Amino acid sequence: MPLTHTKELFARALKGKYALGAFNVNNMELLQAIVEACEEEKAPVMLQISKGAREYANPVYLKKLIEAAISLSNIPVAVHLDHGDSFELCKDCIDEGFTSVMIDASHEPFEKNVAICRKVVEYAHAHDAVVEGELGCLIGAQFDDGEEGGSFSKEGRYTNPEQAVEFVKLSGVDSLAVAIGNSHGAYKFKGEQHLDLERLKAIKQAFQDAGLGDYPLVLHGASSVPKSLVDEINKYGGKLTDAAGVPEGDIEVARRLGCAKVNIDTDLRLAMTAAIRKVFAENPREFDPRKYLGPARAKVKELVQHKVRNVLCCAGHAFD
Ligand code: G3H
Ligand code: 13P
Ligand code: ZN
Repeated sequence: MPLTHTKELFARALKGKYALGAFNVNNMELLQAIVEACEEEKAPVMLQISKGAREYANPVYLKKLIEAAISLSNIPVAVHLDHGDSFELCKDCIDEGFTSVMIDASHEPFEKNVAICRKVVEYAHAHDAVVEGELGCLIGAQFDDGEEGGSFSKEGRYTNPEQAVEFVKLSGVDSLAVAIGNSHGAYKFKGEQHLDLERLKAIKQAFQDAGLGDYPLVLHGASSVPKSLVDEINKYGGKLTDAAGVPEGDIEVARRLGCAKVNIDTDLRLAMTAAIRKVFAENPREFDPRKYLGPARAKVKELVQHKVRNVLCCAGHAFD
């Protein structure tokens, strides 16, 4: 099946009330695991590539690997740039055939963020691609000082519903990544693990009230950091102390509230690491990469199948 346009996947996800998994790809084994898992589960999927992934694997290798994966599968697949940090990078990816790019200027003041996004949107829309913007800071709830708090107050860092609507109207972005206590990596929370789901509801409502309808929101930092994987890594010599992710229940609520795209990278890394550590610990004499990358790929595949089936609920929707 040829590459599917992100716009089409979003429209179907919103209609079907499921979320698309946007899984990060850095190498062949990750790509195979993600696509094979989604193929078996009949799930549409977004493959996302970061600037770091392009630097690690080389854009040409990634493009050719994805072409191979698509030619061997029947499910809808879209390709997206994750956390593009400049107009030039977004342009390069669009020129290479990505149907979707993220421009992340969330660290900039509101007006500058709007201006950078606007520029990318103009280029993307003229070239049949869509753009994801971000408003708010993904610092995670562990630094949360509350509504009125100090330097990390929710009002200063989390996405404000009215501003989100204004941002989308001014920038023209096609989807918006929100900050609701989410953050990247394996150490998302100290103490209670939670997202500000009331805020997410308010953001979604603000779009409805402004006449923008079922506007697609994006949840970054959506790894759950499964305890079983962390325990396995630590059992076989790792030292991931205090790792904590977003409870799967929170992701499910976010999906029902209208997060059409849910970003997962850390959990893939944990699955891969757990499997490799196990092989090395149990077979210290092993040195054939296929003997540890194979189990790593299988473990990632199992994880992705669980996500699309039980958390994102996009399994079975490939051919809607
Ligand atoms: O948001 C970050 C993603 O997990 C990509 O991470 O920049 O290390 O490739 P990376
Ligand atoms: P995690 O680190 O929670 O997997 O988030 C990934 C992400 O948001 C990629 O953009
Ligand atoms: Zn992210």
